[in-house]
Amino acid sequence: MGKTFDIGLESLTAGPLPANRRSALAMPSGPAVRGTFFLETFGCQMNDHDSEKVAGVLMSRGYRQVESADTAGLILYNTCSIREKAAQKVFSRLGEYRTKQAQGQVIGVLGCVAQQEGEDIFERAPWVSLVCGSASYSKLPELLAQVEAGNQRVTGLETDTDATFETEMTRRDNPWRAYLTIIEGCDKACSYCVVPYTRGPERSRASNSILREVRQVAELGYSEVQLLGQTVNSYADPTSRKMRFSELLLAVADEPGIRRVRFTTSHPKDFTQHIVDAMDAQPKLCNHVHLPAQSGSTRVLRAMQRTYTREEYLEKIAMIRGARRPISITTDIIVGFPGETEADLAETLSLLDDVKYDAIFAFKYSPRPHTPSLSMNDAIPEEEKSRRLALLQEKQREIQMERHAGFIGMAFEVLVSTKSRKENHWSGHTTCHRVINFTSQETALLGKYVQVRVTGMTPNSLVGEHA
Ligand code: 5AD
Ligand code: SF4
Repeated sequence: MGKTFDIGLESLTAGPLPANRRSALAMPSGPAVRGTFFLETFGCQMNDHDSEKVAGVLMSRGYRQVESADTAGLILYNTCSIREKAAQKVFSRLGEYRTKQAQGQVIGVLGCVAQQEGEDIFERAPWVSLVCGSASYSKLPELLAQVEAGNQRVTGLETDTDATFETEMTRRDNPWRAYLTIIEGCDKACSYCVVPYTRGPERSRASNSILREVRQVAELGYSEVQLLGQTVNSYADPTSRKMRFSELLLAVADEPGIRRVRFTTSHPKDFTQHIVDAMDAQPKLCNHVHLPAQSGSTRVLRAMQRTYTREEYLEKIAMIRGARRPISITTDIIVGFPGETEADLAETLSLLDDVKYDAIFAFKYSPRPHTPSLSMNDAIPEEEKSRRLALLQEKQREIQMERHAGFIGMAFEVLVSTKSRKENHWSGHTTCHRVINFTSQETALLGKYVQVRVTGMTPNSLVGEHA
């Protein structure tokens, strides 16, 4: 198992990079420069973090990251296929690079689309030399060696059943919050979801390796860690220590220098009282749980193969609400699943009323290849899906307005992560994962924890001033 450490972003860039950023390193213009790479990422936090690790693997082999594809020796796309027709997007992007191979540039496709489309990519875009799925990243150094040797069709498409992607070096994009994967793949079988196919079976990382990486990031000055996994709370320590997920959370929080611990995404089925007890015992565990419901209708949940009923989901919510401090709860919802009726939709709307989520991420159902629901009848027309999505979002907007209004006058601790272009304006996240935009007369607040008093709000964020 590889040693994992971080080279520290501070030495590479000043301040945080915008959300969809990659490197901010200067790049000479001109012909392709050997030993440089450009990496573009689409998708979720897992994908973002995979890219941080891929960048680390490349940098440990002497590559330098650049911000333009024009002159990079190696152009990589790390792609997500969970909802969108990402494959189309990738092929149109690849089309733009048709001439690059002739100019000596090497093009590679990584991630879920690579896994999904496999060697077909070489047929449709013969100028691509590397296709590596997210379940084969542990082989990346080997595959890169083949690319470096001039091999024109290098693939990593096996779904490794036990390897986890651990790197000698991770090139992190955010200087204060470190992502750490603790579990890869997924053993659930939600009927709409392509992840078990693209990311392979569940593989938990050894607890001692996770804790070693936490220590390393803490030594480099990171104070917030976010533990990642498609079903993060299904974590099953493969070592003889057999740490429970809740024990791992406590152990991470105990590492010197760590001030905030987040984890995402939790699966309701594996959400236990132990997790709430750990949150009660350790305030460094952030006041936030992301618990995707997907639907409020037991009938739809069954068709989705989510393995819980509405009532069982609500029991988990009650468990979290039973904590000694207020924990914010967010969720994912899919509208327009095949066969979803008006009555099903009404149940999802009433779930929002029952739970009063702090935020929701709502999506229109999108049929994905290799999924069981692909062949289901009673598809919902696109316009109808849009109507349902709008209804859900409108209801949630009202809930958030009401909730945010209740915060006015309260003070929150904020980890300052952005300096606005407007003078004296900053923003950051509370422990409950709300964004607060605030004013302060102080300078050099980036990366610091400050108390902010809420003076105003919008449906999606709070406004305040440094207390
Ligand atoms: N269609 C729409 N939304 C989906 N998600 C996953 N697969 C699909 C799909 N086929 C959503 C789920 C999941 C989130 C990451 O993406 O809500 O929790
Ligand atoms: Fe997909 Fe379900 Fe696994 Fe989440 S739990 S990644 S929705 S199969």
